[in-house]
Amino acid sequence: MKELQLQPRLQMLADLVPPGAILADVGTDHGYLPVYLLQKGAIKRAIASDIGAEPLDHARRTAEEYGVALELRLCDGLAGIAPYEVDTVVIAGMGGESMISILSAAPWTKDGCRLILQPMTRQELLRRWLAENGYRFTAERLVEDKGTIYPILCVEGGEQPSLSEVETYAGLLLADDPLYGEYLTRQMARLQKAADGMRRSQDKACKADALDRLREALAEKRRQL
Ligand SMILES: C[S@@+](CC[C@H](N)C(=O)[O-])C[C@H]1O[C@@H](n2cnc3c(N)ncnc32)[C@H](O)[C@@H]1O
Repeated sequence: MKELQLQPRLQMLADLVPPGAILADVGTDHGYLPVYLLQKGAIKRAIASDIGAEPLDHARRTAEEYGVALELRLCDGLAGIAPYEVDTVVIAGMGGESMISILSAAPWTKDGCRLILQPMTRQELLRRWLAENGYRFTAERLVEDKGTIYPILCVEGGEQPSLSEVETYAGLLLADDPLYGEYLTRQMARLQKAADGMRRSQDKACKADALDRLREALAEKRRQL
């Protein structure tokens, strides 16, 4: 049977899944992550869920192609998965706001579950929401794939001291990551772009000043690396 190879983003996610996990991969699409982990014997079981029938069918074909038993669930977020069925949840490759809505509807994920989240957008919103809604950060990682740097947040239920605005953009546990300097640079560029946009609209000009202060705080962090 041929072996599945993962791209760097999915490989980093796979490396963060604890050995022997019982995994839910929410928004699985192609199913590469759970199929890879099953094929390696790195996890006990996996449920792959997706809101779309077509992506779920893609996951089914991947599992068949690589000869592993993958459970499939057609559902919105974690709605089709019971709390006792899994101990680790990966949600990757979707927007931060979608992740917030999926986790809001599944508060049981705070109860002894490990979450590995890789947002494509609104990472600052997601970090703040997690801290304010009973999740504590256990690790953060950065991975570069095809020129984009993706943050990965590992959390579990628990108390998290409230985050400063700077932490929501800069991350909490990334200081030793080799990509951290470049990540801060790109976060600063995002803030600059947002501030420029706000300055073009008169009524938001004071918000642009707040973004400039945030950007300066990130620059200071980068100087201290
Ligand atoms: C870009 S793909 C990401 C696939 C894979 N997780 C990855 O990181 O490569 C996003 C997938 O999430 C699914 N999705 C979006 N919203 C969802 C939701 N609320 N519940 C379950 N799946 C969702 C989409 O149908 C799509 O297959």
